[in-house]
Amino acid sequence: MKYELPKMEKPPSHTSISSIETAFMEYHDGSSREVFFTDSQYIVPHNMMIVSRTDLDGFITHANADFVDASSYTKEEIIGQPHFFMRHPHMPKAAFADLWTTIQTGGTWIGMVKNLRKDGGYYWVKATVTTIRDKDDNIVGYHSVRRRIDRDTIKEYEERYAQMRAEENA
Ligand SMILES: Cc1cc2nc3c(=O)[nH]c(=O)nc-3n(C[C@H](O)[C@H](O)[C@H](O)COP(=O)(O)O)c2cc1C
Repeated sequence: MKYELPKMEKPPSHTSISSIETAFMEYHDGSSREVFFTDSQYIVPHNMMIVSRTDLDGFITHANADFVDASSYTKEEIIGQPHFFMRHPHMPKAAFADLWTTIQTGGTWIGMVKNLRKDGGYYWVKATVTTIRDKDDNIVGYHSVRRRIDRDTIKEYEERYAQMRAEENA
């Protein structure tokens, strides 16, 4: 493994969370780690615009202040990391397979994403991922902008992704 994924940090014991679960994450490049996740939702504010850019392999090259706030990591911990380090165990594999097929062929991917925070909490966003091109129109990286989604959409996708995961694990 050519990088060390940033460490998660359990919330202080006085924080009110009713469950902490663990999951063994296996990433597409063969790396793996155990993560913990809680039922604590970070509510994305209405005016938040969470932006990141990656290189062609999905390593983060830029993260704006809203990205840092939502993730609960520091900017230093995020830059240079593979974007998958924030994958939530509730995300189905098929969602990201679709993302990569779309952007590698020059398209724009729009989808709902549940991300894992450093403190084990989560947040839901609608992500729009597009290509970054040089002056000769070659794809040189990717760009993602994420906005808040409403409670009903979150509920719909919690159910849809649970169903997809069940099919993936069947
Ligand atoms: C610009 C860009 C933004 C991405 N944003 C996220 C994200 O917010 N959360 C996430 O889990 N994966 C994100 N991904 C997808 C990851 O690169 C990766 O495909 C996904 O986490 C699944 O990784 P795995 O198959 O190694 O577990 C993004 C990819 C790109 C190119």
